[in-house]
Amino acid sequence: MRRSVVAGVGHYLPQRIVTNADLAKQIDTSDEWIRERSGITQRHIAADGEFTSDLATNAARKALEAAGMGPDDVDLIVVATSTPDETFPASATVVQSKLGCANGSMGFDVQAVCSGFVYALATADNFIKAGQVNSALVIGAETFSRILDWEDRGTCVLFGDGAGAMVLKAEDGKGTSDDRGVLSTHLHSDGSLHDLLYVDGGPSSTGEVGYLRMEGREVFRHAVTKMSEVVVEALEATGLKADEVDWFVPHQANKRIIDGTARKLGVGADRVVVTIDKHANTSAASIPLALSVGVGDDRIQHGHLVLIEAMGGGLTWGSGIIRW
Ligand code: COA
Repeated sequence: MRRSVVAGVGHYLPQRIVTNADLAKQIDTSDEWIRERSGITQRHIAADGEFTSDLATNAARKALEAAGMGPDDVDLIVVATSTPDETFPASATVVQSKLGCANGSMGFDVQAVCSGFVYALATADNFIKAGQVNSALVIGAETFSRILDWEDRGTCVLFGDGAGAMVLKAEDGKGTSDDRGVLSTHLHSDGSLHDLLYVDGGPSSTGEVGYLRMEGREVFRHAVTKMSEVVVEALEATGLKADEVDWFVPHQANKRIIDGTARKLGVGADRVVVTIDKHANTSAASIPLALSVGVGDDRIQHGHLVLIEAMGGGLTWGSGIIRW
């Protein structure tokens, strides 16, 4: 059975750090409120003229380097983002050009907001499994700071900018859960929940980019339930048990949501990768960023079982199990 094996990961964060105290100078909020409700202490914000494709390209270069591969060694580029540089073309084609890929590879974007990386990973994995490509670069990249209403304290304190990337390579496995690579992915959406989390603009509606709008409490309620369900679905599909999971790497939306989901799953805090404190919610970038941090400090190692999950606007939600 063809498997999509992780060959390398990398991430990039913009240089500028904005702390909770910095925000408290601009809007009616406090470090204490933000920390207690979300676990966030700071976020990175892209510089003027620094675009999502720049963040994505920097993360991709690091992932390719870690994989010992060059830009012409990837057959497919999938970028998960809700904040592309332009309405079109796809960020993946911009990244393809910035990386200098000249091998006739293909690239496109996937839009599933905070679940974007799980959707992009599932897409790339299926291209590899189908035999259509032998390698893929999967990127989550966002400049959410550009779609935040900086006067809405209920949302603007929660998000940040960043990018994470993963290189996948086709390898033959036995078709068991001992194989290395992506073992399973599970995706869901429910468009009737649109109003809980959306951007109030777009090319076909207002002609303007718009700002993020959120019913925080309702999103919170759905997050713990849906993410717990989709994680159980992944474990059942692979015949694996929660105590076999070496690392739980959830979407970093809120520390309380992460703790609640881990508790429901029965995974101890020592097996959860948490980056929300330093990165805030970077939407589609948060999982690959956290994976790259976990690999970078030697927590995630060859052979480890890694469980990812996310929920985002749409609503969309999903999970995946990867043997590293
Ligand atoms: N600083 C200070 N006070 C704030 C604030 C801020 N940044 N934002 C909101 N408040 C106030 C509210 O105005 C409200 O005041 P009131 O009681 O006087 O009206 C109070 O804090 C409570 O607001 P509420 O929205 O009920 O707080 P909460 O406990 O639900 O926490 C969130 C708010 C957004 C942190 C929480 O709902 C959450 O994390 N939701 C999920 C968000 C998420 O993860 N989204 C992304 C999914 S991918």
